[in-house]
This record gives sequence, structure tokens and C-alpha cells, in this order.
Amino acid sequence: MEPIQAEQLSDSAKKQIDHWVKKFPENQKQSAVLAALHIVQDENKGYLSPALIEAVAAYLEMPNIAVYEVASFYSMYDTKPCGRNKIYVCTNIACMLRGAEEVMEHIEGKLGIKKGETTADGKFTLKEFECLGACINAPMLQLNKDYHENLTPEKIDKILDEAK
Ligand code: FES
Repeated sequence: MEPIQAEQLSDSAKKQIDHWVKKFPENQKQSAVLAALHIVQDENKGYLSPALIEAVAAYLEMPNIAVYEVASFYSMYDTKPCGRNKIYVCTNIACMLRGAEEVMEHIEGKLGIKKGETTADGKFTLKEFECLGACINAPMLQLNKDYHENLTPEKIDKILDEAK
């Protein structure tokens, strides 16, 4: 198998990663790994393939395993194909006390999937998440990069119906 090359990253991704690399001391380019993985994931329909993980490693001059560890540790990265829209339902304590279970059940019923699954049309992936830092307005969910708080069944329906 051909070794994975940093050249597999798009010019746009490299430019954006360079922006982050410049924020850290010289010879510390690996500090940009979190941002780099976000950039590459966004460009690749929301997930990180092994080839892209290794391309990031090459570009940041890191061992492949170190980048795999980051990509598999943090729940905001996906290493398998997922839906166009990612729904993250917070089920941590404040949201749990304010109805997160009902939120999850409502979404599961509406989309016909269970948490961790993707709809057959590839439109949504439903994920359970730990605290997303919006506890004061629990229950909440994140749809892609947007927060939706003080959820009610009506609000959830609107959010999902308006998703592209
Ligand atoms: S517990 Fe849900 S946002 Fe903090």
C-alpha cells in the first residue's frame, strides 16, 4: 500500500490548518491537531477516514497513532460515515433532570432510529452526548454547530423539519 501523504489534504484544508499552526510556538505544530481534524472532518462529509487521519499526521509531522488517539478519544470526531446532520442530545445531569430522556425518545420516534444510528436517507445521525455547557437552558441539543435550548416537542419538530 502507498504511504499516506499530506498532499491528500485539500489546498483549502492546508491553508486553514496553517492558520492554526501559526498560533503556536514554532516546532509545536502538533498543537493544531484538534483544529486540523475539525477542518478535515468538515470537508469530508462529517467523518475522518483512516487516510485523512494519516494525512493530518503527515502534515503535522506526528506519528499516525497519536492522531488516531485524538480522533478516537473525543466524541466530536467521527471515524465512520455519518448523516449530513449530526444531532447531539445532551443527557447529562441538568438535561436529564429536565427531560433529556423524553427528548431522545421524541427524536428516536420521529426519525425512526435509535441513538447511535443514521436514518436510511443519510439525513440524520443521532448521538448521545455528555454536558455541552448549556445546562442553564436544559434540556438542549446541538444540531451540527448550533445549540438549541429549552427544548419542547414542538421546538424539536421544527428544528428537525427545517434541517437541510
Ligand atoms: S447537562 Fe446538558 S448542557 Fe450541561
